Amino acid sequence: MRALNISIVGATGVVGAELTRLLEVSPIPVNRLRLLASRNSAGRQVKFRDEICFVEALDDIGNLETDSAFLCAGSAVSLEWGPRFAAQGALVIDNSNAFRMDPDVPLVVPQINPSALSDRPRPGIVANPNCSTIQLVRVLRPLVTALDVDQIIVTTYQAASGGGRRGIGQLWNGTRAVLEGSSEPPAAPFPVSLAFNVVPQVGEFDLAGVTLEELKLLQESRKILAMPDLRLTSTCVRVPVENGHSEAVYLEFEKPVRLEHVHELLAQEAGVQLYAEGYPTPRFITNPADVHVGRVRVNPENPRGLWLWVVADNLQVGAALNALLIAQLAIVNRVIGK
Ligand SMILES: NC(=O)c1ccc[n+]([C@@H]2O[C@H](COP(=O)([O-])OP(=O)(O)OC[C@H]3O[C@@H](n4cnc5c(N)ncnc54)[C@H](OP(=O)(O)O)[C@@H]3O)[C@@H](O)[C@H]2O)c1
Repeated sequence: MRALNISIVGATGVVGAELTRLLEVSPIPVNRLRLLASRNSAGRQVKFRDEICFVEALDDIGNLETDSAFLCAGSAVSLEWGPRFAAQGALVIDNSNAFRMDPDVPLVVPQINPSALSDRPRPGIVANPNCSTIQLVRVLRPLVTALDVDQIIVTTYQAASGGGRRGIGQLWNGTRAVLEGSSEPPAAPFPVSLAFNVVPQVGEFDLAGVTLEELKLLQESRKILAMPDLRLTSTCVRVPVENGHSEAVYLEFEKPVRLEHVHELLAQEAGVQLYAEGYPTPRFITNPADVHVGRVRVNPENPRGLWLWVVADNLQVGAALNALLIAQLAIVNRVIGK
């Protein structure tokens, strides 16, 4: 294949920076890398392989031609620029919420529904799912494929980095202020300060009192797993962890479930690390490219009920790595790089 021209929009954010790092060590041959951000970041230097790249202002670039454009700058930027890059022939891999539920846009987790991309043999827009959704469906898939599931109940424990660079800053600055007894900085981008706190709101509420994150978890899981009637309900919570999302997942099956069978199903799943002893915690996971599952247990009060504890790096598994794997899949399928 020929070397690709790649653009990363939002390259100075936490997802864009992670993607640049992962691309650097990936086998993807790169001819030209364009790093794009707002005008505030124009001129910043980023080392990529043996070269120095200068960050350019998205608003000031003229020629949009590129093989693939990764959008990591939020929904408003994606809505404006995604169709423009696609119109110039790019494969657009969008990390935002802008196109995920568009029936014409594939929502892809390469380990689960690669055919959503291969059914679509030309460039255009492909959506990368929400971070909490990716780690959840990576673990749900082997279970709901082999066993009839009645309902799923999830509680998330989501890290500050899910709120981007500002989210990490809010956690650190808020924590420092509390420790020093000085006045706390604004809570934004969170609704309530995260320092020494947990906040049961990720995204805006709808009229039923469900947050946007909780809605995404349901709708995106249904689309990726191709299970439109999947019964899944959740409470999404922000916790004072810098990086790495955790989820307590309760599945209720139609019939009693055997623990050994669940272990077998999870152990066979590529990229899922099963903890027979101990359990994963977000600060200490050693392989950030995997989804980590521990505390697997049948509910002693209900043999049809199963609990799981699921931890993953939201910036890698939940965003940049999934996006990069979509690009690699597109190369294999000869959608780009021909
Ligand atoms: N963080 C996560 O765990 C995660 C997981 C899955 C998906 N996502 C999604 O990934 C996207 C990026 O999130 P993030 O957490 O990386 O955010 P972030 O750290 O706040 O970074 C935002 C990036 O967007 C750029 N940007 C903002 N407005 C722009 C504009 N008008 N034109 C050009 N560039 C602009 C920023 O550039 P400047 O530095 O110049 O301001 C920065 O590079 C979002 O859509 C988010 O929902 C995030």
